[in-house]
Amino acid sequence: MTDKLVIFDTTLRDGEQSPGASMTRDEKLRIARQLERLKVDVIEAGFAASSNGDFECIKAIAEHIKDSTVCSLSRANDRDITLAADALQKANRARIHTFIATSPVHMEKKLRMTPEQVLEQAKLAVRFARNRVADVEFSAEDAYRSEEDFLCRVIEAAINEGATTINVPDTVGYAIPELYGNFIRTLRQRVPNSDKAIWSVHCHNDLGMAVANSLAGVKIGGARQVECTINGLGERAGNCSLEEVVMAIRTRRDYFDLDVGVDATQILAASRMVSQTTGFVVQPNKAIVGANAFAHTAGIHQDGIMKARDTYEIMRAEDVGWTANKMILGKLSGRNAFKQRLQELGVQMDSEADINLAFAKFKDLADRKSEIFDEDILALVSEESVLHNSDRFGYVSLSQHSETGELPHATVVITVDGKEVTGQANGNGPVDASLKAIESKVNSGSEMVLYSVNAISGSTESQGEVTVRLQNSGRVVNGVGADPDIVVASAKAYISALNKLNSQVDRVAAQG
Ligand code: KIV
Ligand code: ZN
Repeated sequence: MTDKLVIFDTTLRDGEQSPGASMTRDEKLRIARQLERLKVDVIEAGFAASSNGDFECIKAIAEHIKDSTVCSLSRANDRDITLAADALQKANRARIHTFIATSPVHMEKKLRMTPEQVLEQAKLAVRFARNRVADVEFSAEDAYRSEEDFLCRVIEAAINEGATTINVPDTVGYAIPELYGNFIRTLRQRVPNSDKAIWSVHCHNDLGMAVANSLAGVKIGGARQVECTINGLGERAGNCSLEEVVMAIRTRRDYFDLDVGVDATQILAASRMVSQTTGFVVQPNKAIVGANAFAHTAGIHQDGIMKARDTYEIMRAEDVGWTANKMILGKLSGRNAFKQRLQELGVQMDSEADINLAFAKFKDLADRKSEIFDEDILALVSEESVLHNSDRFGYVSLSQHSETGELPHATVVITVDGKEVTGQANGNGPVDASLKAIESKVNSGSEMVLYSVNAISGSTESQGEVTVRLQNSGRVVNGVGADPDIVVASAKAYISALNKLNSQVDRVAAQG
């Protein structure tokens, strides 16, 4: 009999902590639905006490998700735990994930608490959380840099208070696979009640070893939960990537001998949704979900693959969802077919008015592009400015002129609080001129820290997907826009970022 490995997805919490990756309630709900289709065991939906917005997102996810456990992070205090429990009230299965730092550097310099105070607070927090829900996870933040004897005492106390999962994070990505695996094994051997909880690994990727460390924690250490994110999204160099861990366990079942409940055919759709929503482009050579992950160009490889796939392939592209990239709709498709495809893609639209607006955008796109792929539809609905009439700024139209030897010029019509205004500007290229024309009417004063263009489906007929990252008064947001015309896509992305900057969300950092 094989053991089960619990897949705990934290894309919507730790992933969202990446600068610029913050998501709206609808975006988070859409991703949560995809994670449920992917059949992850636990969805960490956010950090309820960090902002009213995050509280509402967790509440909405708890109401809609039926199969996966829904979890909220909380610091080890009564207020945070109460907010987490309140947000999770409607969940079918709820988990509170409470944490406190245990490393000397975090306790002394960040928390300014003695080890005994930390131990006491950890106990009280787990006890308090257990009074609200039966499923309580305790994390010792920066566990890997903690003093072993002290960590054992904290973990033993947390289990005594009723923690059902014990998470041992490598918060700063300092671990080495063999050492981390041994560390988890030693802790499990030394903590007397270790068999009363599921042990979990949570690795950051600062040295590029998050997946390897997590797998070592499972194989050597005996952990039975992995915390991970889609595309490895996360602060700094990111978290352990879900798709890599899942496919490693699946592909090397001979070695790990573990079951994962994930439906791997949903991996690619999840990856695309997260990338398109956050604007964090997936590198082409990324394992499993990169555009080249299953592409064979070298003649000798192609020859081998044609003779027998297993000459160069250890996994089948279709097993992780690659064949789902089919041409699904075109110019003649009706509203019902469009609505059904939205549902299949996990896009929930609550009002008929939203569906009508999205359908009008789809028809407009189909007039300009003969083949419409799933990615095109996802890009279309992930454009904030397209579907949210309540946004402060909206895109209306754009014209620009550029010619060799002449200064490019753009005229852009946008809405500001529902009123149309026209901006004009020159720039060193048509994109620059267009964004300056918008800025001339908005005067946001924000600094652009990233601009990137990506072809959604390969050819020059494809839509360009543009990400614009803006920074203003300490806040960093990403805007995403898609259009067959990359200048228009850039204007839409810029407007989407301005709208995000305009929606005041205040957040408390989990590590703060
Ligand atoms: O990296 C970390 O330590 C965390 C904890 C809050 C679990 O994300
Ligand atoms: Zn983390």
